[in-house]
Amino acid sequence: MVKISVSVLSKNNRETIEKLNRTSIDYFHIDVMDGKFVDETNFSISKIEEVSNYALKKLDVHLMVEYPNSYIASLPLSKIEYITVHYESLNGDFSILEKIRDKGIKCGISIKPNTDVQLIFNLLDKIDLVLIMSVEPGYGGQDFLDSSLTKVRLLKSEIKNRNLPILISIDGGINNENSSKCIEAGCDMLVSGSYIISSNDYEKAVDLLRNV
Ligand code: DX5
Ligand code: ZN
Repeated sequence: MVKISVSVLSKNNRETIEKLNRTSIDYFHIDVMDGKFVDETNFSISKIEEVSNYALKKLDVHLMVEYPNSYIASLPLSKIEYITVHYESLNGDFSILEKIRDKGIKCGISIKPNTDVQLIFNLLDKIDLVLIMSVEPGYGGQDFLDSSLTKVRLLKSEIKNRNLPILISIDGGINNENSSKCIEAGCDMLVSGSYIISSNDYEKAVDLLRNV
């Protein structure tokens, strides 16, 4: 079954986290923004520590920052399953991928809507997850870009051909109207913020996303 990672960007208070703890979601998606790689600033290290203290699901950390290396050392690792960095922030130096794995954490690469997915094909044996952005990173609540599905299909066939144990996740504008297209295209994980958080029945929203 497709995994659901809830982006708690706008509502990361204890009450919401505890309510989500009682649902069947798989991960809390933590969007770290530095005000440079993207305009907004969010999720300080101390806020992630706070969420870690009461989250009963593992964290899926998405680093939308200019210098991801400086974050790796200070992230509270106990609840983190995935750390995803942006291809566009690495400037050709991929040593961070090994650093993440050396900490016992699974490692992901994310690409923005205008980045060609084939650029990461030679990195696939160094990572555990690819996060395809289906909106421009920076804000929740934007409209899903259909062009991201072409990338998912290309990537899925590459992963299958090479028989790699890599998950494809998709992030931005995911709702009950586009989730089945994402699953059909080959996504293993859906990141969803506004759609789940604005619904008045989280579990029902999760079921609708999973298409069950
Ligand atoms: C966008 C973030 C997303 C976003 C998802 O920069 O990476 O994780 O919060 O929120 P929705 O589902 O509202 O697009
Ligand atoms: Zn994200």
